[in-house]
Amino acid sequence: MTQSTSNSVIYLKDYLAPAFLVQGVELTFDLYPNQTRVFANIQFQRNAEREASLPLQLHGSDLKLISLAIDGVVLTTAQYQVSDELLTINTVPDQFVLTSEVEIDPANNTSLEGLYRSNTMFCTQCEAEGFRKITYYPDRPDVMAAFTTTVIADKSEYPVLLSNGNSVKRGDLDNNRHFVTWQDPFRKPAYLFALVAGDLQVVEDRFVTSSGREVVLEIWVEPENLTKCDHAMASLKAAMKWDEEVYGREYDLDIYMIVAVNDFNMGAMENKGLNIFNSSCVLARSDTATDAAFQRIEGVVAHEYFHNWSGNRVTCRDWFQLSLKEGFTVYRDQCFSADMNDAAVKRIEDVAMLRTAQFAEDAGPTAHPVRPEQFIEISNFYTLTIYEKGSEVVRMIANLLGEALFRKGCDLYFARHDGQAVTVDDFVAAMAEVSDIDFTQFMRWYSQAGTPELQITDQYNAEKQQYLLTFKQHTPATQGQKDKQPLHIPVKLGLLNQAGQDMALHLSEGEASGAQGDQCRVLHLREATQTFVFENVIEQPTPSLLRGFSAPVKVNFSYNQAQLLHLMQHDSDGFNRWDAGQRLAIDALKSMITAFNSGLMPILDTALVEAFRSLLNSSLSPAILAEMLVLPSEAYLAEQYEVVPIEAIHACRNIARKTLAQGLQVELKQCLQANLLEGNYRPVAEDIGKRRLKNTCLAYLMSLEAPEVVDQAWQQFNQADNMTDVQAALVQLVHSKQDDKADAALKKFESDWQQDALVMDQWFAVQASRPQPDALARVKALMEHSAFSLKNPNKVRALVGTYCNQNRVNFHSIDGHSYRFLADVVLALDKMNPQIASRLITPLARWQKLDLKRQGLMQAELQRIAQAKLSKDLFEVVNKALA
Ligand code: TRP
Ligand code: ZN
Repeated sequence: MTQSTSNSVIYLKDYLAPAFLVQGVELTFDLYPNQTRVFANIQFQRNAEREASLPLQLHGSDLKLISLAIDGVVLTTAQYQVSDELLTINTVPDQFVLTSEVEIDPANNTSLEGLYRSNTMFCTQCEAEGFRKITYYPDRPDVMAAFTTTVIADKSEYPVLLSNGNSVKRGDLDNNRHFVTWQDPFRKPAYLFALVAGDLQVVEDRFVTSSGREVVLEIWVEPENLTKCDHAMASLKAAMKWDEEVYGREYDLDIYMIVAVNDFNMGAMENKGLNIFNSSCVLARSDTATDAAFQRIEGVVAHEYFHNWSGNRVTCRDWFQLSLKEGFTVYRDQCFSADMNDAAVKRIEDVAMLRTAQFAEDAGPTAHPVRPEQFIEISNFYTLTIYEKGSEVVRMIANLLGEALFRKGCDLYFARHDGQAVTVDDFVAAMAEVSDIDFTQFMRWYSQAGTPELQITDQYNAEKQQYLLTFKQHTPATQGQKDKQPLHIPVKLGLLNQAGQDMALHLSEGEASGAQGDQCRVLHLREATQTFVFENVIEQPTPSLLRGFSAPVKVNFSYNQAQLLHLMQHDSDGFNRWDAGQRLAIDALKSMITAFNSGLMPILDTALVEAFRSLLNSSLSPAILAEMLVLPSEAYLAEQYEVVPIEAIHACRNIARKTLAQGLQVELKQCLQANLLEGNYRPVAEDIGKRRLKNTCLAYLMSLEAPEVVDQAWQQFNQADNMTDVQAALVQLVHSKQDDKADAALKKFESDWQQDALVMDQWFAVQASRPQPDALARVKALMEHSAFSLKNPNKVRALVGTYCNQNRVNFHSIDGHSYRFLADVVLALDKMNPQIASRLITPLARWQKLDLKRQGLMQAELQRIAQAKLSKDLFEVVNKALA
């Protein structure tokens, strides 16, 4: 693979409309593994918005140019210039057809971008800038065109030939070859182009839209996976119905296809009418996939489907606007999953992920705004900030407008911009227009990076019956952004009286939504410091702040333990009940960590044991109880420190878990028994909650390693009829000190599942997250396993990704061996797949949070990487990390 030499920075402020627009494209692919020919007829027209004499410049990389013609006249080499990235033709008419022929080598395309091979099939991935690896084209999202695509291939090896839109023609050719022609009537940017060829089989279904049109639904997979498509199909139909009911959005083509491929850089891709999915986001059967996988599939299938409107019908003007489609679509898929499952649990999971991983990104060297202003490689910006924080920003907008107005704003946005490539400003303008809300200050959520911090203090005046809340907001400096302006932060809150009930709220001043006397109101912070006065407050209240996590900020309020217990037990807001429990646990763990660091014996506050006992004795739903019993993760605990005490966090969290297990043995055993399920596996919220709770109890009990619990785990591993329970038991055995049982379980699992790539990913991940000190040696050994391949992103993520991100105590081992290991893997990987290499480096780039010794070791590895010839992707991240 040729690596790019120019690492130039692209700026949002430099945006210019395209010099040429495309009226139509006809593509013909003559598919061969090593020498595929791509023939393109592109109808160009000068864009009246731009200067009249601009040359034609087309993107293209790794292409072998065979011939070029304009309006049928072949160009001589003097008439154009070709560089690594561009084809330039200086003199062209105002309107013309460009005919080109190029040769590409899909079999050696390990970047999984452009046209590539996965197992025996051909497939494509064009977002963001992959189409330029297929043919010369203006590869930018504001150039939209109708595509007609003819795919030619060997009929026996590739009986199935797919592309976007409707198939309009097919037939046989000489030499056992055949062709299919596809026509996509919707104008689209090149990033939504897709092609698949292979020996695939289909699961078919139908959906009748609200206006009565019948849509054929097809999921294409390799034959052995035909029995694993039901859940994805059910999810697709549910998503189609939901988008009609909640957003009034119907599907527009007569056919909707999903193809599962094993080699894929991300989760899935919303190509028009032909979604291509990482097989991990499609395939599920009760015996092969965990509850988490079932839920992820439901979410990702919906996400890609929702893109048909939020992304495809209305697309992005340029890649700086990426969150326009991604933030909005994540918000839509989160709401869908909330409606299909338990809304409070979904919110807790999403916020936990945001606060752990996105906050860390926002505090690290690659921090960027939801709408970035510059990039070297756009692939580096498919981030938690663009997706998850972007979704939080849309959620705040939706909450500011309320359900009815938000729907009206969406209707206006879709109607006004259907068929266009637009910006975040266009989205917000539609929302402002239907609501008369002024979003001027709110727009800073799109332009300022970093997580805002709220410092909140209170004061109760019994005589005046007044309660004062003072908010100070501050957003830390991030790379390239020093001075931050105050944001418009909606703070949804309530005040609990001593009986645990919500008090009626009477505000004397300050901007808020809701009516006087409501039990829950939204305060609108707009200034650096603001005080709100509540009147008629007859007793000292406990504030329930940021209900439902109403803004993606850090909240600092010095709650005492009694207040947190009060909130945990009584708050009418389910999210805040959970959050109070998390704060309680964090406080307890932090005291232990302080003790540990001063050489003292860390002891868990018995108040936490009693708090958890009260939870176990309460009437909470199993799903919520499971969430509340889980201690904050090591990663989230790390977020609470400027310098992360790696060993202390790991050790103290384990001691806390053991203390809880010891103190709550009876309750945990009872709870475990009470949540055993009978009957067939169902991936529904109720059962998922019970399995989660049961396995949470098992995990606590296993921390004591009493023989009867080890036996119970062993039995569950051997007898469970579903992967959730098998995997949960396997994790417990492999992470325990029971080496014999661990080895036996791993052997059995391997021999049961060696033919199933996705199940083997779990086998790799379970071992990679093993806390024992031999973990690195084991990971290295597993890289030699026949089921492992550095070329397959799922394998790399399962083994190397899990080790470096989930196994913190080993990854940050003070000998620095794991840093060196990761650097070696990243260097090797960068030559094959830059996108995956630059994602994998993340934990090494976050050296700023470690102690000086580790900082030195990590920086040394980053510097070693920086010496090599790097892809743009890795170059950008490594340089930010070293800046
Ligand atoms: N648009 C895809 C999604 O969010 C993201 C995606 C899929 C992607 N494959 C990619 C982004 C490859 C960059 C590179 O649904
Ligand atoms: Zn998306």
